[in-house]
Amino acid sequence: MHKGCLLLVGLGLHPGQCTLEALAALKVADVVFAQAGEPDMLAWVCAQNANTHSLQDHYAGHSTRLDAYEAMAEAMLAPVRQGMRVCAAFYGHPGVFVSPSHMARTRAHAEGLVVMMLPGVSAEDCLYADLGVDPGGRGVQSYEARDFFVHARAIDVCAPLILWQPAVVDEAAQSGFCSRAGALTALAAALQEIYPGDHDVVLYEAACCAQEPARIEHVRLDRLGCAEIAQETTLFVPALFAPKPAPARQALMARALAQTMS
Ligand SMILES: C[S@@+](CC[C@H](N)C(=O)[O-])C[C@H]1O[C@@H](n2cnc3c(N)ncnc32)[C@H](O)[C@@H]1O
Repeated sequence: MHKGCLLLVGLGLHPGQCTLEALAALKVADVVFAQAGEPDMLAWVCAQNANTHSLQDHYAGHSTRLDAYEAMAEAMLAPVRQGMRVCAAFYGHPGVFVSPSHMARTRAHAEGLVVMMLPGVSAEDCLYADLGVDPGGRGVQSYEARDFFVHARAIDVCAPLILWQPAVVDEAAQSGFCSRAGALTALAAALQEIYPGDHDVVLYEAACCAQEPARIEHVRLDRLGCAEIAQETTLFVPALFAPKPAPARQALMARALAQTMS
């Protein structure tokens, strides 16, 4: 690790998923900043490096999430500018739905500072393992729930859909508050514009401790509004149909192959 550098690393969802390179970065850093999710995870990071500071504290004292993210990015970069080796550790993958890490990386690049992001095990990786889903089968669509809701994304019902952060689908939740009652019902109604009400969807929570089971709760789409969801819930919507081959593409391939051979 160079002097005056920022390493953005992922912790996985529990310490057993922390990669060897992330662990090495934690241990040699002059200072560690952590957004660890669970208190046990933060305690584990502190055990690797005594000079660990929680980024969570930046939520207090800022009225919007964006302000808090700005403060986190600045907290990470200040010691780098002084020539320190900084490791910023985030639960899951450090580049997956983690605004402060991307902000810090962009600013570090702009200032000519040394910065690197190391991949980690994300909630989506755990979902593939726990639900037995292979994105190589029918593909996968992955959206932040509010992004899906607000932009009315064009959804392919022949591929599964992963919706992140359904607990903060409400606009109010974006500025740091919880979703208002009824927000999940609105999300369920938006999904029922695409899928039938009896479509089986999954509320998924990967285990945050190696010994615990994941939460895999099946619920009909038209009952989703009444379901219990937490900050860490991800919504999985299975595909409705298998994709159909497009004859026009077969003809396209045949023409291209024929032209190449002639
Ligand atoms: C701010 S994002 C952080 C994602 C994280 N960086 C990752 O790589 O998995 C928070 C969202 O990730 C998902 N998530 C976090 N923990 C999870 C868990 N234990 N099981 C399933 N999804 C989880 C949920 O959709 C949650 O709303």
